[in-house]
Order: sequence, then structure tokens, then C-alpha cells
Amino acid sequence: MKPFGGNLYCSFITVLICTVLFIALFYTESLSSLSSSSFIRILSCPKRIAASKLRHRTAKLNPSRPEMDERFEFDPEECNTVSSGKWVYNSSIRPLYTDTSCPYLDKQVTCIKNGRPDSGYLQWEWQPDDCFLPKFDPKRLLENLRGKRLMFVGDSIQRGQWRSLVCMVESVIPEDGKSMPKNRSHSIFSAKEYNATIEFYWAPFLVESNSDTYIVPDPTERILKVDSVSTHAPYWQDVDFLVFNSYIWWMDGHYIKSLWGSFANGEDGYEELERTAAYRISLRTWANWLDSSINPNRSRVFFTTISPTHMRSEDWNHIGGIKCYNETKPTKKLKRRMRWGGSNAGYGYRMTDVLSSVVSRMKINVTFINITEMSEYRVDAHTSVYGERSDELLTDEQRADPLQYADCIHWCLPGVPDTWNHILYAYLVGS
Ligand SMILES: *[C@@H]1O[C@H](CO)[C@@H](O)[C@H](O)[C@H]1NC(C)=O
Ligand SMILES: *[C@@H]1O[C@H](CO)[C@@H](O)[C@H](O)[C@H]1NC(C)=O
Ligand SMILES: *[C@@H]1O[C@H](CO)[C@@H](O)[C@H](O)[C@H]1NC(C)=O
Ligand SMILES: *[C@@H]1O[C@H](CO)[C@@H](O)[C@H](O)[C@H]1NC(C)=O
Ligand SMILES: *[C@@H]1O[C@H](CO)[C@@H](O)[C@H](O)[C@H]1NC(C)=O
Ligand SMILES: *[C@@H]1O[C@H](CO)[C@@H](O)[C@H](O)[C@H]1NC(C)=O
Ligand SMILES: *[C@@H]1O[C@H](CO)[C@@H](O)[C@H](O)[C@H]1NC(C)=O
Repeated sequence: MKPFGGNLYCSFITVLICTVLFIALFYTESLSSLSSSSFIRILSCPKRIAASKLRHRTAKLNPSRPEMDERFEFDPEECNTVSSGKWVYNSSIRPLYTDTSCPYLDKQVTCIKNGRPDSGYLQWEWQPDDCFLPKFDPKRLLENLRGKRLMFVGDSIQRGQWRSLVCMVESVIPEDGKSMPKNRSHSIFSAKEYNATIEFYWAPFLVESNSDTYIVPDPTERILKVDSVSTHAPYWQDVDFLVFNSYIWWMDGHYIKSLWGSFANGEDGYEELERTAAYRISLRTWANWLDSSINPNRSRVFFTTISPTHMRSEDWNHIGGIKCYNETKPTKKLKRRMRWGGSNAGYGYRMTDVLSSVVSRMKINVTFINITEMSEYRVDAHTSVYGERSDELLTDEQRADPLQYADCIHWCLPGVPDTWNHILYAYLVGS
């Protein structure tokens, strides 16, 4: 094992915990129960410029909607840098849905329904320091999606972001105007009256792997075809809005079995690549496909940045805490090394560098939904012991053993992914 971050002991423990957790999490997790991940772009902008541009744009795009509150309008040109913001408690916040009102949630994320006793984690609102997000209006989003397809692509955290968005809009559509047939790897929510779809496509590494259809539980047995997206890409073709992510699955080991050429040529031909190297090659494969196949006049591409994990309570100075277990408030204090993806010992920083460098060389524009920093504060918002393991809710015995069973990767819904979608919304309605 290769030490990283200079602290072999911590690294070892982290890897051990992560490995155990991942094996457990993914061993029997069926594809249909995967939730999704995403990323944040924290928005900062001079209010006045944004407001004036906003007014302009609102007037142009929404002549029929004078009721829009211009003050809130977000300008992608002005608010595109990640900077500071804060979570503000507001007891009058009512999420757009609950885990009982929305029929499309997995039990993996329905924390309150599953018995989570506290609900204060639903009362926090993200406030960027310098600009405001527009009010989330489900009908306005659906209007923007009229005749279009929006597709989330990625892992279980991305699946959560997708379910969150579906739940944020579904209540304004009458029962007979929407549908969501079950499907393992490609799920489609349709809003019939709008001829719009909000879809999810499972591709945890973006490139092909032997965990695409059935998850290989042992991370060391996973093999990636780092030079190919050809089984996935046909599903991405001609989608109007693509929202990708890929991070957490790369964190399962230091080395990743990587193949070039045909899978059929035997799994013996793999090479073990250090994970950032495998990530770089794979992202380039993904980027090349987009550059050569996407019509930039038709499709818009987003990428959700790292969704942080909260495995080590000392990262937020909660001495004696057990991972994210029993946390009921966002933390204000983050240790530096926690930035960039939470408890992955600084790996997020290197992975983000790889992502940024690949994306910067692309011909088409990729917009980051930069969720990382804002989500790092939310130690209170994971499913913890109110999620599932092996497709079953945790038993009381398991709940009593949070060190082993608390899930500090996935997020409760409603919850933090709603805010990620609020940012996505700001880009979509502003474009
Ligand atoms: C709290 O939330 C309510 C409902 O969204 C909103 O009307 C109110 O302005 C918020 N209060 C503050 C102080 O932001
Ligand atoms: C519905 O949307 C699809 C694209 O998602 C488009 O190809 C089709 O023409 C639309 N149908 C109607 C009736 O507008
Ligand atoms: C699931 O989706 C895929 C891709 O769209 C499709 O080929 C397959 O028939 C669907 N399966 C079911 C059971 O609907
Ligand atoms: C996109 O639109 C521009 C301007 O209308 C046009 O010049 C260009 O060829 C289009 N690109 C593609 C790939 O269709
Ligand atoms: C977790 O919180 C519950 C309820 O507040 C408390 O009874 C329990 O002792 C806490 N457990 C730990 C390990 O802190
Ligand atoms: C990419 O974004 C930049 C800045 O927003 C814009 O000037 C440029 O035209 C865009 N390029 C394409 C291909 O859409
Ligand atoms: C996301 O935001 C952080 C600051 O919070 C920034 O340093 C990082 O570069 C951003 N990520 C990407 C991929 O742009």
C-alpha cells in the first residue's frame, strides 16, 4: 500500500474503514437503490451587477412572469466562482417534498420515515455571501425542460441528486401526467404534458467497468476499461442537459485494474494504475467522446464535483464522535485536510486537479456544479444509521453499532442534494 498525505497510520485506517464500508454498502445494494452524488458550485457575485443583469434577462426570457423576484436571480457569468457562503438556520423552511409525499424515493435515503428522530437538518439554507439563488419554481423548471431531456449520469450519490430533483418537481404534475417505470440502470421520469424527462443513467466510473450491470463487491476485483465509454455513450447522445459525476468509486483502493482494448481479450491483460492516473485516462476518454459527439448547440454539460464523506469526526473537531453518527447540526469548523472531499485524506484535491485539467482542455463547455465545500459542512445530513445495508433497513442491533454501520457517504432526502439541484436550477433557468 502506498502511503499518501504523509500519515501512513491514518491512511491505513481510512482505507480500511472505507474498504469495509464499501464492501458492505455495495455488496448487495441493487442498482435500483443507488442514490446519487453531485457537486456544488458556490456562487459569488457582486449583487448589483447580478441584479441588473438579472432584470435584463428576466425581462427578456420571461415577459409573462412579472411576479419573478428579480433580486434573487443568479447570473452564471457573475456568480461563477466558488467562494464563501454559509448555512443559515431558518425554522420556516419547508422542503418541497417529504420522504413520505414523494413516491420515488428509495428507502436508502428516507431517513425520517426510517426513524431518524431529529429533523433540524432540514432547516438549513445555503447562502452564498454575495449572491442569491433564484426561488425554486418547479413549473418554471418544467417549462425550461419542455420538449427536452435532462439526464444525470454517475454513481449512487448522483442517483440521489436525480431523485431529489424528481421529487422537487413531481408534486406540481397530476397523477396521470407523470410516470417512472422501474429500470435498473437507466431510469426515466416523464412529465407528459411537458414532453420532458428527468433521467438517471448508472455509470459509476463513467468509463465501462465490470460493475456496470452487477456491482462487483470486492473493489480489488473491479476492472475498468479506461479507453471506452461505448456501451454507455449511446444513452447520452442527444440529451439536452447532461449532469455527470464520478468520484467516490475511485476511492476504494490505491490501484485500479485497468484494461485497454477489448474486454473479451481477457481480464488477464489489465494493468494496475494508480487511481489518479486511471481517473485521468478515463476522464480523457469521456471528454473525447463528448468533444467528438455532442452538438454544443443542442446539449449542455454539467459536472457535479466531489460529494464529501464524513468518516472521521476529528476532522470537524468532534472528539469522541463516531463518524457522522448523531450529528444534528452542520459544523462550522473544518480542518484543512478535510476540504476536498471529506475524509479521503486529501485525495479529493488531487482528483479535482485531474478533473479540472481534463475539462480545461475540452472543446465543449462543461459547467461545474461545485457542491464540495458547501456539503463539507453538512456532517449532520448523511443517512447515518437511518439508511440501509444489503437492501434492508438496518436492524436495531446494527443501528447500535454506528462505527461499523453508519453510512456517512449518502445523504438523506429531502436534504443537501436539494440545494445542489437548486444551483443546477439556477443555471438551467438562467441559460
Ligand atoms: C426563512 O424562510 C422563509 C420561507 O422560505 C422565508 O420567507 C424567510 O425570508 C426566511 N427568513 C430568512 C431570515 O431568511
Ligand atoms: C418531445 O421531445 C422530444 C425530445 O426530447 C422530441 O424529439 C419530440 O419531437 C417531442 N415531441 C413533441 C410532440 O413535441
Ligand atoms: C431499461 O432501460 C434500457 C435502456 O433504456 C432498456 O433497453 C430496457 O429495455 C429497460 N428495461 C426495462 C425492464 O424497462
Ligand atoms: C452551432 O451553431 C452555429 C451558429 O448557428 C453554427 O455556425 C455551427 O455550425 C453549429 N454547430 C454545430 C455543431 O451544429
Ligand atoms: C446519540 O444520541 C442519542 C440521543 O440524543 C443519545 O441517547 C446517545 O447516547 C448518543 N450516542 C452516542 C454514542 O453519542
Ligand atoms: C463556452 O463558454 C464561454 C463563456 O461562457 C462562451 O464564450 C463560449 O461561446 C462557449 N463555447 C461554446 C462552444 O459553447
Ligand atoms: C470547487 O470549489 C472549490 C472551492 O470551494 C475550488 O477550489 C475548486 O477548484 C472547485 N472545483 C472545481 C472542479 O472547479
